[in-house]
Amino acid sequence: MRRAGTGSVSGADLAQQLGVTRAAVWARIEELRKLGYEITANPHQGYRLLGTPDVLHADDLLARLSANQIVGREIRVFQETNSTNDLAEKLGRDGVREGAVVFAEAQKKGRGRLGRHWLSPARKGLWFSVLLRPNLRPQAATQFTVVAATALVRAIRRQTNLMPEIKWPNDILLRGKKVAGILTELSAELDHVKYLVIGIGVDVNLTSTDLPADLRKIATSLRIESGQAVSRPELAAAILGELDADYARVRAGQFAAVADEWEEQCTTLSRTVTIRIGDRVQTGVAESLDSEGALLLRTQHGRLERVLGGDVTVEK
Ligand code: BTN
Repeated sequence: MRRAGTGSVSGADLAQQLGVTRAAVWARIEELRKLGYEITANPHQGYRLLGTPDVLHADDLLARLSANQIVGREIRVFQETNSTNDLAEKLGRDGVREGAVVFAEAQKKGRGRLGRHWLSPARKGLWFSVLLRPNLRPQAATQFTVVAATALVRAIRRQTNLMPEIKWPNDILLRGKKVAGILTELSAELDHVKYLVIGIGVDVNLTSTDLPADLRKIATSLRIESGQAVSRPELAAAILGELDADYARVRAGQFAAVADEWEEQCTTLSRTVTIRIGDRVQTGVAESLDSEGALLLRTQHGRLERVLGGDVTVEK
């Protein structure tokens, strides 16, 4: 029905395409109406989709992603879970093929990097995880945080006209406040990655009252910045479309092109930064990314250090 755009599609055609009876099509249409889909039925022309609610629905997302090669070829949506990264990790362990994506409308134990809590209120954001099985050394997994960040920036720009910036390694900022984050986790043997889970959290329609006072200073949402609600299913499809395109670039050996794009959006480069990794603190100028996605930091002593992760403060 989505493929028909503003046109109609008959019950008989739908039944034939789906291999079910017309009565089954009608029952499914009723289910969708209950979820908030506005569908008109005309005896001559058939069914017409007039409006889509702001809910995440696996079939709806799949229909929007029919052009994707890998990312999003299987989609699962949960109303509530602890963390979508845990669910995707389980799919990885169970041998599910790469490209599967798990969404939750709400997370009870959403987690950020460095063991931080990630606020994930119901239907206010996009909280999802993508399972991939790239042919990769564990040291190069940071590439995928870079890939996810560039895809996120392009999708947010396209859907909202806002201009996000990237703060290394995984923060997406608007006017200096965090609007999205990426948590890449992996299962690996010494020399190769078995599977990788890219967890993405986007603060889409949170209002400032949804943000606790301590977060209000450092976090924002697309709605707060653009002044209007943003369609979550449209944004989800845009992000997964961009991610699929960037994953294709990486598979074709073109990570350097993705890294160039990342460097253009990244406000951390050329700045003096302090990076905390556990107890270790390093200060220097963030110069560039290397071929594995690590940050090259020119220290005060003139040495070039490779940094894979940590907590970054931009000094000037
Ligand atoms: C960060 O910026 O620290 C990373 C935040 C990542 C949050 C997402 S929401 C979906 C997925 N599930 C989680 O528990 N975390 C990631």
